[in-house]
Order: sequence, then structure tokens, then C-alpha cells
Amino acid sequence: RTPTLAVIGGDGIGPEVTAEAVKVLQAVCGEQAFSFVDYDLGAERWKRTGEVLPDSVLAELDGCDAILFGAVGAAPGDKSMPSGILERGLILKIRFAFDHYVNLRPSRLYQGVPTPLASSVTDRGPVDFVVVREGTEGLYCGNGGVVRPGTPHEIATEVSVNTAHGVERVVRDAFERATRRRGKVTLVHKHNVLVHAGGLWNRVFEQVAADYPGVQTDYLHVDAATIFLATDPARFDVVVTDNLFGDILTDLAAAVTGGIGLAASGNVNPSGEHPSMFEPVHGSAPDIAGQQKADPSAAILSAGLLLEHLGRTEQAAAVAAAVTADIESRDGTPRTTPEIGDAIAARLG
Ligand code: NAI
Ligand code: MG
Repeated sequence: RTPTLAVIGGDGIGPEVTAEAVKVLQAVCGEQAFSFVDYDLGAERWKRTGEVLPDSVLAELDGCDAILFGAVGAAPGDKSMPSGILERGLILKIRFAFDHYVNLRPSRLYQGVPTPLASSVTDRGPVDFVVVREGTEGLYCGNGGVVRPGTPHEIATEVSVNTAHGVERVVRDAFERATRRRGKVTLVHKHNVLVHAGGLWNRVFEQVAADYPGVQTDYLHVDAATIFLATDPARFDVVVTDNLFGDILTDLAAAVTGGIGLAASGNVNPSGEHPSMFEPVHGSAPDIAGQQKADPSAAILSAGLLLEHLGRTEQAAAVAAAVTADIESRDGTPRTTPEIGDAIAARLG
């Protein structure tokens, strides 16, 4: 059976960068390796039809082997789009429906890529780590409400949810990944202040660690973790953390490793019960959309994570190596989105 990949290009530069990711997948796996099915979703679809993600489309996506996602979203000044409608109605809906409990965000500082890090910091060793962010619980699951809205006595709550089951499975995933990497896991939380959730994370982390005697462990409070990301990022291999801390840490991680055009991510259901979704961290970039100026590297690296998830380890490594070679050979000459995609595809030949 030919695996089916759903392609949700989305809005703005989303379709431009995903087209290059598809090109690279075909170059490395062969034209016939996957059947690609395009789905028209995002701000443009909503404006045309009023639909965000019909249940029938969600059911079809569930039948695919994996999802390649570009980005969705209108221009920030566009007032016709109610705030949050695509985040809650599309991105978070897919994450929750398909139980994407591992949000995977690798960061690597490539040679020659400008970084705000001092040379005394980059001299400490290669920067190459992955943040395993919990994707289905924490502060992002909509557990809260408003009492007496709009009055001076308004009370708004947003209560973080942490379950033993949810914490255990993501921590175990982080340890598994560490065994295939440099063998170190850092737990990031704030258990001195968030004693209830932090206590659970800490206990589960120690229990799981006992099953992996070969893996070195470390703990950092989230505020200290931001300091080390800027002063000693080489100390990290696998970082495991909750939904909110992971969101913030990974943007900082992208910033210190050369920016948004290179940051890839995966929303993973490791059991394979539902399809996982792979996407660049960046958004639809309305400011450069339609100009073929977007860097497709993050989307292509995300396609590499997709291959790894599907067990195509060698092809995944080949994609990562081709992107690395392309990035490290850049001399500042401007290239269009398809030119970068073609150059990377040519290396996979
Ligand atoms: P953005 O990531 O789209 O753009 C931020 C800046 O980075 C812009 O100057 C843009 O030109 C640049 N940029 C982004 N990707 C690039 C690439 N591949 N190559 C070169 N430059 C790149 O974030 P922004 O402007 O805050 O959001 C724009 C829209 O995207 C909004 O509607 C937002 O809601 C949405 N968004 C969607 C996401 C998703 O679909 N997962 C994630 C983040 C934002
Ligand atoms: Mg974010």
C-alpha cells in the first residue's frame, strides 16, 4: 500500500514552502513513494465558506499516514478574522483530536548562520538539542472560564491540567529519544512555586529515569533554563517540559539558532493510532507572501521529521544532511523559494 500524506498548505507562504517540502520528499523517496492529497484549509477557506475544519475533513485526515502542514493565518492587521478561530478551531483541534502529545522541536546551530549568541558561548560546543514539549495538557487545554465578565469584579481562570498518564508518556518519549541521541534529558519546570504540577512532573521524571540507567538527567527551573539557552545551549540534548514552558522555550531556541526560517516541528502521536503532523514553526508571513522570498528550509526539515516518524530513518538523515549542506554553503546570494527547494532536492538526486 502506498502511504498517503495529507498536505495542508494553508495561507500566505504556507503553500509556497510546503510545495518545496513535497518536492524534496519526492526526490529522496521517489515520485511514487507517497500519494499526496491536498486539503484547502485556513483563513482563505474560512473567508470563502465560513468553515474552519469540518468534521468530515477531520475524519479524512485521520485516515492518512501523516500530515504535512504549512501555516495558517491572515495578516495581523486583518480585522475580518476573529482572533483565535484558526488556533482553536484548526491547529489545536487537530492536536487534541489526534492526541499529539509530543510536540517535537529540534534546534541546531548551523555553521555560518548568524546567531545572537556570543562566540564565547558557541565555542563551548555544538548546539544541537530537541525540546519535547507536552502537547495536549497544561495551560492550553481550555480548562477555565470567566465569572462576572466585563465587570470590575471579573474573574478569569485558566487552570493547568497535568495527569500522571499524560506526564508519564511524554517523559518516557523524551528518554527514548535520548537513547538515540547523546543520552541526556533535562526536565524544565518550576516545581519550587508550582508545587502541585511540578511535584507530579518531578516524581514521574524520577520514576521513568530509573528505567534508563544509561541516560544522564538534569533539572532546571524554567527561568534558569532561559538563561542557559542564551549562555550555554551546548549543555542540552533532550529537554522535556510542559505545554506553556515548551512554547516559550522553543521560540527562544529558534531565535538563538538562526531564526524562524530554519525551525522545524512535529506534532507527534508516537503510538501511531492517529496521524502525526509536521510543520515549520513560522506562520504564514503575509509580509512576504506571493513573492517567492520565503526560506523553505524549516518546511523541508519538518518533512525530514515526518520521514523519521514513518521509520524511514536513512531518508530522514539524507534530508537533514542535504539541508545542512545547503545552509552551510550559503554565501548571501539571494535565492527564490523554489531555487532553494531545487538545490536541496538536487543534493538528494
Ligand atoms: P510569521 O512567522 O508568519 O512571520 C514573522 C516574520 O518572520 C515575518 O517578518 C516573516 O516574513 C518572517 N518569516 C517567517 N517565515 C519565514 C520564512 N520561511 N522565510 C523567511 N522569512 C520568514 O509570524 P507573524 O507575522 O506573527 O504571523 C503571521 C500569521 O501567521 C498570523 O496570522 C499568525 O496567526 C499566523 N501563524 C500561524 C502559525 C501556524 O500556522 N502554525 C504559527 C505562527 C503564526
Ligand atoms: Mg509559538
